[in-house]
Amino acid sequence: MGVPLLDLKAHHEPLQQEIMAALEQTFRSQSFILGPEVGKLEERVATYCQAKHGVGVTSGTDALLIALMALGIGPGDEVVTTPYSFFATAGAVVRLGAKPVLVDIDPVTYNIAPSKIDSAVTSKTKAIIPVHLYGQCADMGPIMDLAKRHNFSVIEDAAQAIGAEYRDGQRACSMGTIGCLSFFPSKNLGCLGDGGMVVTNNPELAEQMRVLRVHGSKPKYYHKLIGGNFRLDTIQAAVLNVKLNYLDGWTKKRQENADRYETLFQQSSLVQRGKVRLPEAVYRPSGAKHYHIYNQFVLRVERRDDLMAYLKQKGIGAEIYYPVPFHLQECFRYLGYRQGDFPESERAANETVAIPIYPELTLEQQTEVVKAITAFYQ
Ligand SMILES: Cc1ncc(COP(=O)(O)O)c(C=O)c1O
Repeated sequence: MGVPLLDLKAHHEPLQQEIMAALEQTFRSQSFILGPEVGKLEERVATYCQAKHGVGVTSGTDALLIALMALGIGPGDEVVTTPYSFFATAGAVVRLGAKPVLVDIDPVTYNIAPSKIDSAVTSKTKAIIPVHLYGQCADMGPIMDLAKRHNFSVIEDAAQAIGAEYRDGQRACSMGTIGCLSFFPSKNLGCLGDGGMVVTNNPELAEQMRVLRVHGSKPKYYHKLIGGNFRLDTIQAAVLNVKLNYLDGWTKKRQENADRYETLFQQSSLVQRGKVRLPEAVYRPSGAKHYHIYNQFVLRVERRDDLMAYLKQKGIGAEIYYPVPFHLQECFRYLGYRQGDFPESERAANETVAIPIYPELTLEQQTEVVKAITAFYQ
């Protein structure tokens, strides 16, 4: 039968009429650039993230870029981040002429290890970008303590983590200086193309980012700053205003799917035999609202590449997020890092695989995924 990694058709089909009506309304209004749907979405998403201000932008990548620009980061500055994330996390830093300083990850959560950050901080450190990878918050308590002690800003890369909560229920994007979201279609809240948002509690930074997203102009055609075209399309905002109504339900389904995998993998004995290690929702005490939102469900497995080839042959969707850590990327060779510098990131890049977790996944499909993995390790 086969199981896809993501099934956007199943995801969107029940919403088709509602989405089409929203698109039609925007079409009728002809207000395609920063129309009323954008402002409405900004308010709703900021509230959802327990923050005060949202600024809709073109993508999660541009959210990172505009956040760094608003903080005035540029040549001579250093930004601490993880080697194990989607390229944009470090790419945005380099595009502004600043230097990414990498710190290895925690092997359980795959997020930046706070205990290793201190030694990476210098007088040039202007910011840190913790990534809430796969939908689980980085360990923000010690990160915020370090930021206060050393006086640098914190940009939360929450591209994969809308609605994820930390220890006391604080949501991703509410803890740092600025939070960055992506609405890429595979995210828990995805639009029909590219989109993103920056979220902050700081009114001056929010205003700065609003100005930066329109080429730094305020009023129109008067430029105090050099920005860019970073506007979220009204059409995408209209779609997201529909989809946001369903986000909590989808996240709950992803969490239920994660629980089901846990049961199925325990029954398969793969965990006991050490073939498969399941993701751990470290900050989710039982029954509490602290949670992982499972944008991805990532296993650590034995003989990963052989397993990938086997799953492909069986029609089971699987993906490696991410096969090459930043310090081993060709374009970052000039930073001077070497193989072995960040062993946990390298291990994760070689040993992990994401399997289907999307909300519409059925028990039968999950059983098929686990059966295929079990058959591989027979
Ligand atoms: C951790 C992380 N940061 C940034 C981004 C960039 O977002 P976008 O694809 O919307 O530009 C992504 C998207 O995949 C991501 O996963």
